[in-house]
Amino acid sequence: MHRFRRFILIALCIASMLGTATPGARATQTVHPALWPTSVPGFTRTPAMDQFVERLLSQMSLEEKVAQMVQADIAFITPADLQRYKLGSILAGGNAAPDNDLRSTAQAWLNLTRAFHAAALADTGGAHPPIPLLFGIDAVHGHGKVIGATIFPHNVGLGATHDAGLIRRIGAATAEEVAATGIDWTFAPTVAVVRDPRWGRSYESYSENPLLVARYAPEMVIGLQGAPGTGDFLGPTHTLATIKHFLGDGGTRFGRDQGDTQATEAELAHVHAAGYAPAIDAGAMIVMASYNSWQGVKMHASHALLTDILKGRIGFDGFVVGDWNAQEQVPGCTKYRCPAAILAGVDMVMAPDSWRQMVENLLAEVRSGEIPQARIDDAVRRILRVKAAAGLFSRTAPPTQGDPVRDAARLAVLGDAAHRAIAREAVRESLVLLKNEHATLPLDPHARVLVAGKAADDIGVQSGGWSIDWQAIHNSNADFPGATSIYAGIAAAVTRAGGTAALSEAGDFTVKPDVAVVVFGEGPYAEFQGDRETLEFSPGDATNLEILRRLRAAGIPTVSVFISGRPLWVNRELNASDAFVAAWLPGGEGAGIADVLFKAADGSVPFDFVGRLPFSWPATAMPVAFDAAGKAGDALFANGFGLDYRTAMVTKALPEEPRIPAYFDAPRGSLFYAGHVTAPWSLFVADDDAEVHVTLPRQSSPAGALGVSITAGGLRADWTGARLGKLRITGRAVDLRSAAAQGARLSLRYRMERAPAATVTLGLGCDEPICKGASRDHLLDITNALRVAPGTWRTLSIPLHCFAEDADLGSVAVPMSMETGGAFQVTLSAIRLVPAAAAASAASAECPGSVVAALSRPPP
Ligand code: BGC
Ligand code: BGC
Repeated sequence: MHRFRRFILIALCIASMLGTATPGARATQTVHPALWPTSVPGFTRTPAMDQFVERLLSQMSLEEKVAQMVQADIAFITPADLQRYKLGSILAGGNAAPDNDLRSTAQAWLNLTRAFHAAALADTGGAHPPIPLLFGIDAVHGHGKVIGATIFPHNVGLGATHDAGLIRRIGAATAEEVAATGIDWTFAPTVAVVRDPRWGRSYESYSENPLLVARYAPEMVIGLQGAPGTGDFLGPTHTLATIKHFLGDGGTRFGRDQGDTQATEAELAHVHAAGYAPAIDAGAMIVMASYNSWQGVKMHASHALLTDILKGRIGFDGFVVGDWNAQEQVPGCTKYRCPAAILAGVDMVMAPDSWRQMVENLLAEVRSGEIPQARIDDAVRRILRVKAAAGLFSRTAPPTQGDPVRDAARLAVLGDAAHRAIAREAVRESLVLLKNEHATLPLDPHARVLVAGKAADDIGVQSGGWSIDWQAIHNSNADFPGATSIYAGIAAAVTRAGGTAALSEAGDFTVKPDVAVVVFGEGPYAEFQGDRETLEFSPGDATNLEILRRLRAAGIPTVSVFISGRPLWVNRELNASDAFVAAWLPGGEGAGIADVLFKAADGSVPFDFVGRLPFSWPATAMPVAFDAAGKAGDALFANGFGLDYRTAMVTKALPEEPRIPAYFDAPRGSLFYAGHVTAPWSLFVADDDAEVHVTLPRQSSPAGALGVSITAGGLRADWTGARLGKLRITGRAVDLRSAAAQGARLSLRYRMERAPAATVTLGLGCDEPICKGASRDHLLDITNALRVAPGTWRTLSIPLHCFAEDADLGSVAVPMSMETGGAFQVTLSAIRLVPAAAAASAASAECPGSVVAALSRPPP
C-alpha cells in the first residue's frame, strides 16, 4: 500500500512535469481515476426517456445538432435570430437585460423570456417537433439581476450559517423567483473550495473546508431543482442548477482569477472536487467548465478531467457547459472556433457574442472530420436528456403577450414576505462575532445609537457583486425596492423601543451617543476585479479606522459591522473596536443585523450569534497556508471560530503590522511589479478583435500578432509585425481625475529589445458600460520616445492629463495599453500609476511627442 502510494506520487510528479513542460501543446494529461470519487446520479434515466432522446436525435440534421451545442447572450441575439438558428440555449449575462435596461421590470423580463421561448418553439417545418430552449441566468444569491427580487447573503455568509436546511430553503425560494420570470436554469451553486481568499470570487464559495462544501452543495441543488425521485423534481417552481467551475477554480496560484492551479491530482480530487459527486448524487445535471488551468492546461482543453474523470470516473451523464468565451484561452482557439474544447468534453459552448461564427465553424469542423460525428451526438444526447428530464418537451409555445392580471399574480413571488423572511433569517445566522469586550453586545434598544460608516445605509454595498449587474458598483438604495439597509434595520429596532438612532457616515454627532455602530468594508466587485495582492483590508485609506479611534477617544463604545466577501486582515480595526461582527455580504435584508445586535424592548435576547467562520481568519495580510495534508496553518481566528452571548473572551491587543513579503509589497498604483501583474489588474493580448486573458507564463494573441512571457525579469512583449497587436492591462475602473490634476503619471520602466518598425502607441481607456456608447482608448504616439539603443533600461513617464479630458479619467478601466502593427520587442519591469508626490522629481509635465524618456539604472 505504502509502496503503491509512493508510486502514484512519483507518477503524478512526472505527469505534472510533462504537463508544464509543454504549455500550449495538445492537452494530454495523465490522470488516475482510482484517486477520484464516484457518484450515484440522483437523476436516473428511464428507458422511455433514452428512447425519446435517441429517436429525436435520429431525426435531427447536423445543423440542428450543432445549434443545440451553442449558447448566445441576449445582448447579442434577438428572438428572430433564435427562430432562424434554433440554438439550444441563451443566457442573460452579468450586464445583459431586456432592451439593455438593467432596471427593467420583472414584467419586462417575463415578456422577454416568453418571446424567446416562443421563437424556439415556432414550427419551422423540420422533421420533428421544435426543441425547447434553455434560458440561463446567474441567480447566485437570489434572482439578483431582477429589480425587486429577494437578495440572499452570498455563499460565504451561507457557509457561516452551517445550516444545511436553510440553504435548501434558499435554493427553493430562489428557484421560485427565477421560474416566475420564465427562466429555466441558474448558473449556481459555485462549489469552489477556496484556498486563497485573495481570489475575487471567494464570496461565491461556501468554505475553505471541502467537507462543508460537500455538505451544502447538494442542499442548494435540491432546493433549486427539488428532490430527485419525487413529483416535485424540476416541477414548475424549480430551475435547473449548475455546479461550477470544474475544476480547481478556488486553488489558483496567489488566488488569481482564471489562473493556474498547481495542486496535485490527489488535492484536486479530495479538496477541489469535493462538492461535485454529492451534488450529482442530489440530481445536478449541468456542470460548468472553469476558466482556470490545471498545471498549465486550460480546463476547457482538458480531456483528462472533463471526460476521463467527470464523465467517466465520476459518472456524470448530464452536460458540460463552457464559461463565457473561455474557449478563447485555449491555445490555438479563438472565441469563434475551438474544436479542442468540444473534443475535450465541453458539450455546450458559451459563445455570448460569438455564437454565429461558432455555429458555422462547428459545422465545418464536423464536415472536415476534425470533430467526429460521435462526439457531436454524445454532446447533443446529453443536452436533450437534460431538457427531457426538466420536462421542457411538454412546454407549449407561449403567447407573446401574457394576460397582465395572471402575470402580476405570477410575479408576486419576487421579493414576497415569505422569501424575505428566509433571507433575514439567513442574515442573522451568518453573522460571526469575533470580539465582544465588556459585554458591549447585545445593545440596549432604548439607547442613543449613532450609526456611522460608508456601508451603513447602502444596500448596494451590502449586496455585493452579481446584483442587478455584474460588478454592481452603480447601484443605489432605490434599485432595491422592498429591501432594507443595515441602518434602516437598526433605526426600526431602536425607534420601536423608544431609543434614538442617528445616521452619520463620518461618525459626527452633536449629542454624545451611548454607543456607535460603524458599518464598513469592501465595495462590490465580481470575478477578477475583486482579486487582491494582499488581504490587508484598506491599504492607504484609514477613514474607517479614524472614525473608530475618534469615537473611542470620545469614550463611546464602538461596534464594528464588517462587510466583506472574505476574511481580511483588520487587526487595527479590531483593536479600535469594542465589538466586531463579520457580516459578509448579507444582501437585501439588512434588518437581520439589528435582530442580533439588539435586545428586545423588554430586555430579553431574541437571537444569539450562531454563525461560525467558514474560512480561517488571517493573522497577517497574507492568506493562511494549507499543508500537504490539507490542514490550515496558524490563523488569528481558526475556521469554525465564533463567539456568542454565552462565551466571554478577552481579546488582547493585536499586532498592527501587516507583514507583507516584498514580492507583494508593490508601491501604490503598480500595475506590474516584481515579475507579476498586480491584482486586481489583468493582462490581455489581442489582435484585431480577438483577445486572450493572459493567465500562464507564456501566451500569444489568437492570431499570433503578439506574444508575451512573464518571468522574474519582467514582462517581455514580442510584436511580430504580421498584423496589429495590442497589450492591455484592465481591471477595476478607477477615478484618476484628482490624481491627474495633481500631476500623477503613467510610468514604464523598460528595456528596448528590438526597436519599433512602425508607430507604437500608449493608451489609457475608459470601458463600457462605464463610458456610455463606446469604449474609448486615448492613444499617444510614443514612437519617438522609444528611439533608444537596445539593451539599456529606461523610464518613460507621462502625465495622465496628456491622455484624456477630465471626464474620461473619471473611470479608467484600462490604465495602460500598448499597440503597434510593426515588429517590436520590449521588456517591461515596472508599470505604475505614480502619484504626484512621487512623480514630482521626474522632469516637466510635457506631453508626447516631447515625452520624457529618462535614462536610469537597471532594476535590481
Ligand atoms: C462566470 C460564470 C458565469 C458566466 C455567465 C462567467 O464570466 O465565470 O460564473 O456563470 O460568466 O455570466
Ligand atoms: C458578462 C458576465 C460575464 C463576464 C465575463 C460580463 O460582461 O456580463 O456575464 O461573466 O462579462 O468576463
